[in-house]
Amino acid sequence: MRILGIETSCDETSAAVVEDGRHAMSNVVASQIDIHQAYGGVVPEVAARSHIEVILPVIHEALDTAKVSWDDIDGIAVTHGPGLLGSLLIGTLTARTLALTHRKPLYAVNHVVAHTFANFLIEPEPQFPLLSLSVSGNHSHLLLFESLLEYRLLGSARDDAAGEAFDKVARMIGLPYPGGPQIGKLALQGDESAFKLPIARLDNPYDFSFSGLKTAVLRALQHAVGADFRLHSTQIPALLTDQQKADMAASFQATVCQTLVASLGKAYTQYQPKSVVIAGGVAANTRLRQEVSAQLPITMNYAPIQYCTDNGAMIGAMGYHLALAGRTSDPLSLTTNPSLPI
Ligand code: KG4
Ligand code: ZN
Repeated sequence: MRILGIETSCDETSAAVVEDGRHAMSNVVASQIDIHQAYGGVVPEVAARSHIEVILPVIHEALDTAKVSWDDIDGIAVTHGPGLLGSLLIGTLTARTLALTHRKPLYAVNHVVAHTFANFLIEPEPQFPLLSLSVSGNHSHLLLFESLLEYRLLGSARDDAAGEAFDKVARMIGLPYPGGPQIGKLALQGDESAFKLPIARLDNPYDFSFSGLKTAVLRALQHAVGADFRLHSTQIPALLTDQQKADMAASFQATVCQTLVASLGKAYTQYQPKSVVIAGGVAANTRLRQEVSAQLPITMNYAPIQYCTDNGAMIGAMGYHLALAGRTSDPLSLTTNPSLPI
């Protein structure tokens, strides 16, 4: 069975053809990073307009790359939340229209849950129960899957998501958006123990909080340049040495990774899953992968970067399982929900 997966929840327009939920025949991603970099983050109106411009060419390229025509497509899966309303609307309206005109069943996919399905696009196939740490620019979740479509939330971010913290700290040390990959690169030249940063402790050991860490980074940087709390964060990069920037990148990254892996480790001990996966944009982080592999007594497999950051293939992979379960959506009435729960 071949599913066309469509993703437009944030700043990537993506479409993919996925066979049997396991094999991505194509995965086309049009990133808007260049457009948003000038503003230091995603501008929702600009994102929606850009999706409109590229969505049909992206879908056609996904079909061409997979060497299939509409006749070979068995269904269309689309992200209908959570995400930016304007961006989600472009994807869902396009998918609804295509489902009607090409007479294909339509499947509504939860973006956050779909991130985990990226790990089914690689070998070996994850086993159940499956523990998944899903960490992105807008969410940080620890999920326990009993089976493909039976999952529950063990914990989530109380405030800033992990990726958001990467993006904000990157700005404080003068790195462009998106901050995650930039911090990862710069951290290689830094000393992880240069700055002592706090790990938040919460009542639920599976919840995360990164806003205190972000403030701690700001205070440490103000202190490092000999200023007090009144120095605005935008003034800091010009006052830092290259070594101080690299040291903060390394110290911050190590603290985030230790925080995430501490929760993952506790959940592993409590639930004894057969497989553990990490998902979402932050799962592309090399240091996080090293920390997970070092701390968990299980052999880890990691999805390639293009399946960690937002992509249509993970939507197509989850859509396949919705298709098997007969969970179709009505193309005349499918709605979007920017804060769709798990
Ligand atoms: O999953 P994603 O592409 O979009 C959302 O659903 O949010 O994740 C984007 C986030 C951004 O915050 C970005 O800085 C972060 O993932 N990210 C990384 C890395 N690559 C992307 N964070 C740390 N290290 C990376 N290598
Ligand atoms: Zn995402």
